[in-house]
Amino acid sequence: MNIVILAAGQGKRMFSRLPKVLHPLAGKPLAQHVIDTARALGPEKLVVVYGHGGDAVRATLAAPDIAWAEQAEQLGTGHAVAQALPHLGPAAATLVLYGDVPLTTAATLRRLLHVAANGLAILTVNLADPDGYGRIVRDAAGQVRRIVEQKDASEAEKKIGEINTGIMVMPTARLRDWIGRLKNDNAQGEYYLTDIVALAVAEGLPVNTVQPEGAWEVLGVNSKVQLAELERQHQRNLAGQLLVAGVRLADPERIDIRGELQHGRDVAIDVGCVFEGRVELADAVEVGPYCVLKNVKVGAGTRIAAFCHFEDAVIGPDGVLGPYARLRPGTELGPEVHIGNFVEVKKSVFGAQSKANHLAYIGDAEIGQRVNIGAGTITCNYDGANKFKTIIEDDVFIGSDSQLVAPVRVGRGATLGAGTTLSQDAPAEALTLSRVRQMTLSGWQRPQKQKVEK
Ligand code: UD1
Ligand code: CA
Repeated sequence: MNIVILAAGQGKRMFSRLPKVLHPLAGKPLAQHVIDTARALGPEKLVVVYGHGGDAVRATLAAPDIAWAEQAEQLGTGHAVAQALPHLGPAAATLVLYGDVPLTTAATLRRLLHVAANGLAILTVNLADPDGYGRIVRDAAGQVRRIVEQKDASEAEKKIGEINTGIMVMPTARLRDWIGRLKNDNAQGEYYLTDIVALAVAEGLPVNTVQPEGAWEVLGVNSKVQLAELERQHQRNLAGQLLVAGVRLADPERIDIRGELQHGRDVAIDVGCVFEGRVELADAVEVGPYCVLKNVKVGAGTRIAAFCHFEDAVIGPDGVLGPYARLRPGTELGPEVHIGNFVEVKKSVFGAQSKANHLAYIGDAEIGQRVNIGAGTITCNYDGANKFKTIIEDDVFIGSDSQLVAPVRVGRGATLGAGTTLSQDAPAEALTLSRVRQMTLSGWQRPQKQKVEK
């Protein structure tokens, strides 16, 4: 089949420089949702009709399987589909989707394609308030006769609750002919795609309808209000899927997934967490409240306390992380690693059972196993121009408030005294410290505040 995605509309009511179809829902442009769903159906041709913000739309959505059709002037949905015609294979059916209707499921579209057979199929829905939409006009036998737009509808037709979602399937060879016959002598002076329904009926072609599982599947975005509503709906759907699959969510209304969340068994997620990109939580992982995880893999049994921020990191099993831990790109933690409050780790590897529990910056470091990094430790990895590596071997103990001026190596089993500024390698199994010797001046007096006389 061919799929045409209409995405030429401007979206005036978004009040934005960004073309409407590029506004993100769950971290992904609206039209990208539609493209991904379209791909799931395996079309032979995938055509996007673009207009407003064309360069941005093409640059953002570019993919080798997409053909582009420009609609320079928005003269109506029929005119929009006409722009795509040269790309469409005539033997297959054509499915029309809207770039600003992001949540239609592939399952619903498969049902629609199924009932289309060699005729027309329209995705419709019954709304309590059908105002603004095209109405499905049926005859006494219940057969679809035509679609009438709100602005062209009689008072009686305006009472029809069944509306056209705009999503339709039709035989492509006939579509070509019908589109050539569309006129714009209507209330809006537009070429309506919906007028093809009456043409198909006149030719005796079957016209069937399908309704979606939920009305949210066919809701479009015209404003930030609708965008926010659909975002919530989508997040509710995703949370529902997680619950059904056995994830414990403290509150399904308070989770945001902007990407893909993979999980094992007995995973628990507290309120306010945001998952971006691809996140994998293995069995029995616990995520505390208000954590942000982006492109992160977490090993089984790891507990993440509140307010953590992790990005592009791999975390081993049975770790203890946070609260307030930050893992930046390139972090790899082995099994049973502890990263505590106000510890920032960047592009560093921690071996099994190593710990940095309080207030530290570890960047460009290779840390062995069973290393203990004291509070306030900093790897000075940057001289203002270049970055250098710090290597800390197994079983090292770094005293609190130490600075490791890279490049530098701490040998296996070494101990650094508290407050050490390490600028040369520290030998294995020895205590190294750089500290001014402590002294006491006896008989020293604290200065007294002087009395000033005026
Ligand atoms: C259209 C339908 C209406 C249906 C409604 C559902 C027609 C004539 N009417 O209404 O029956 O109930 O959708 O929302 O088809 N677009 C273009 N180029 C154009 C015009 C529109 O690409 O020249 C795109 C828009 O970007 C949007 C979609 O087509 O994605 C629908 O356009 P919109 O103006 O929202 O729909 P209506 O014409 O109001
Ligand atoms: Ca509309």
